[in-house]
Amino acid sequence: MEESRHIPVLLEEVIDNLNCTTGGIYIDSTLGEGGHAQRILEAILPGGLLIGIDQDGKAIRRAKENLKGFKEGLLTFQKNFSEIGTILESLKIKEVDGILFDLGLSSLQLLDEKRGFSFQRDGLLDMRMSEEMKLTAGYLLNNLSFDELVKILYEYGEERWARRIVRTVVEYRRKRRLETTFQLVEIIKRAVPRSAWPRRIHVATRTFQALRIAVNDELMVLEGTLPKAAGFLKKGGRICVISYHSLEDRVVKNFFREYRSQGLKAIFPKPIVPSRKELQMNPRSRSAKLRVGEMC
Ligand SMILES: C[S@@+](CC[C@H](N)C(=O)[O-])C[C@H]1O[C@@H](n2cnc3c(N)ncnc32)[C@H](O)[C@@H]1O
Repeated sequence: MEESRHIPVLLEEVIDNLNCTTGGIYIDSTLGEGGHAQRILEAILPGGLLIGIDQDGKAIRRAKENLKGFKEGLLTFQKNFSEIGTILESLKIKEVDGILFDLGLSSLQLLDEKRGFSFQRDGLLDMRMSEEMKLTAGYLLNNLSFDELVKILYEYGEERWARRIVRTVVEYRRKRRLETTFQLVEIIKRAVPRSAWPRRIHVATRTFQALRIAVNDELMVLEGTLPKAAGFLKKGGRICVISYHSLEDRVVKNFFREYRSQGLKAIFPKPIVPSRKELQMNPRSRSAKLRVGEMC
């Protein structure tokens, strides 16, 4: 696997807006490789506590390694962030000063061909962020019905060629099992007319996104967790959410709208996006949107 450390996205903007104070209690719900966590820890120590959650065991191990210089103030949990309530209960913590969600994948996950997240690397079609997830992308592709797969590609990938792609998948799997990312990329290229390939993104982007969301049940989990998390914010506490595609951002936007009546004030009318400098330095940040809320 190619080694490349994940570059934290919108780092300064998150640190500015999470209002980290010395001695405060914060949650990084998507610890990843610990990039944001490092800066949060620097801001809250001594005396502060950062609760770092990630459902991926490899991410937790990598974050611990990257953050080993901090001798105090970090507790990590290999859990889905939907378990935020149970985690806080186990620590007897009733409220926190700030919560960060930096959704999506880390470079560690994307660059690991064994995980099957990337259409640019050949690997088994897995796409599980946690080994506890039962169904892999390969299982879905080989076992779901035509209609079920079309629904996934339409709803989670907004792929207008969903029917053609799935028809080609179904023809393929009649002859042999669909097992690798490159087999799937070839199928997609065959199914979508060359003239209709998108110019700004790879022709397989939407299908891969859709399968990943389905495998990890990402949108439902996010929708269920944001209100739970906000319920633990102190008065004046902040929540920062970075999303990476329009479906995720829609869930975040709706949450901010619906939670207004419970006292959550959106700090900015529009999401914060990466500066030109950040885009140049880290092109992977290009679709990021940060929304910030404060509990009144
Ligand atoms: C974009 S990365 C976070 C990168 C991190 N902020 C950094 O600077 O290194 C997203 C991380 O969130 C984790 N993740 C995504 N959905 C999750 C969920 N529902 N529960 C727990 N972790 C999740 C992924 O495993 C991944 O490691």
